Amino acid sequence: MPFWFQNRKPILALAPMADMTDSAFCQTARECGGPDFIVFREMANSEAIVRGNDRTVEMCRFGGVERPIVQQLFGADPSVMAEAVRIIDDRFGPDGFDINMGCPARKIVGNFNGSALMREPSKAAAIVRAVKAATAKPVSVKTRLGWTSPEEILEFSKIIEDAGADLITIHGRTKEQGYSGTADWATIGKAKSRLSIPVILNGDVSGGESARKALDCSGCDGVMVGRCTLGNPWIFAEIAAFIDKRAWEAPDWGERVKIIIRHAERHAVAHPEPAPLVSLRAHLVHYFKGVPGAGAWREKMVRVSEIGELESVLLEK
Ligand SMILES: Cc1cc2nc3c(=O)[nH]c(=O)nc-3n(C[C@H](O)[C@H](O)[C@H](O)COP(=O)(O)O)c2cc1C
Repeated sequence: MPFWFQNRKPILALAPMADMTDSAFCQTARECGGPDFIVFREMANSEAIVRGNDRTVEMCRFGGVERPIVQQLFGADPSVMAEAVRIIDDRFGPDGFDINMGCPARKIVGNFNGSALMREPSKAAAIVRAVKAATAKPVSVKTRLGWTSPEEILEFSKIIEDAGADLITIHGRTKEQGYSGTADWATIGKAKSRLSIPVILNGDVSGGESARKALDCSGCDGVMVGRCTLGNPWIFAEIAAFIDKRAWEAPDWGERVKIIIRHAERHAVAHPEPAPLVSLRAHLVHYFKGVPGAGAWREKMVRVSEIGELESVLLEK
C-alpha cells in the first residue's frame, strides 16, 4: 500500500508553495498539525539540480519530522527530470516525487514547464514514464483542470494515469483562470470517477467544514490545502478533528506567539542571512490576518530584526 494511505483516509496534504513551504514552515505545520498529513514541498528546478546548483539542491533538504514528504520537481525534459529525481533520491530520500504540471507563472510555462505540459500530453506522459523508471518511490502529478477549458482534465488525467502515475492532485481551476473565480470541485469529481488511481482535490479548502464538503461533492481520496495553511499551521489538526467528529480547540494567543517564535527560530537557522526576519515577513503577515489592530502590528513587524524583538512586540498585546 503506498504510504499516502498509511497515515489516514481521506488523505490530507499540504500544498507545495514556492518560497513558502520551506523546511522551517513545514516543520512548524507538522508540530501544530499533527502526524496525519503529507507534506508536498515547493517545486525545485530539475535543470538546476542536474547542473549541480547547490542552492536548488539544498531546497530539497528536509527534517525527519516533516515525513511523510513528497518532493515536487518541474521540468520539460524527461531525461533531465529522471536524473534530478535520482540525485534527490540519493541525497535526501523523500517518500515520493511529484511532477509540477499546473504552475501558471509566465517564466515557467514559457519553457514548456508546469501547466504548459497540459498542452503537450505526449511529453507529459514521457516525463511520468521517465521519472517512474528513475525511482522505486511513488510518483504523483499535480495539475489543473485544463489550459482554457475545465473539461480538458478528463482526457489529460487518463493519459497521466496510463503513463504510470500513482496519484494525481487536481487544482480546480484552469491555467487561464490563474487564481480567480472559485475552484470547480464538481469537475474534479468527474475526473475522479473515470480514474483508478487516487485523486487529491485542491483549491479553496479552508478548514474542516469545507474539506468535508469538497470530499462529499467530488468523491476524491483526499484534499490538499495551500493558502489557508499560511499563518495557520494548525489547520490539519482542525480538519482531521472535524472529519473524525472530534472536538478541537483553536490555539490561544500565548500558544500562537510560542509557535510564531518557533517558526522564526527555524527560519533563522535555514536562512542565516544578515536579517532572517526580513524573509520571514511573507509568513508573519499571515499570522496576523483577522487579528484586531493587525495594521499597527505590521508596521512594528517590519522594523524588527531579531527574534528577541519579535517576541517583545508579540507579547505587547
Ligand atoms: C505563493 C504560492 C506558491 C505556489 N507554488 C506552487 C508550487 O511550487 N508548486 C505547485 O504545484 N503549486 C504551487 N502553488 C499552487 C498551490 O499549490 C495550490 O494549487 C493553489 O494555491 C490552490 O490551492 P489553495 O486554494 O488551497 O491555496 C502555489 C501557490 C501559491 C499561493
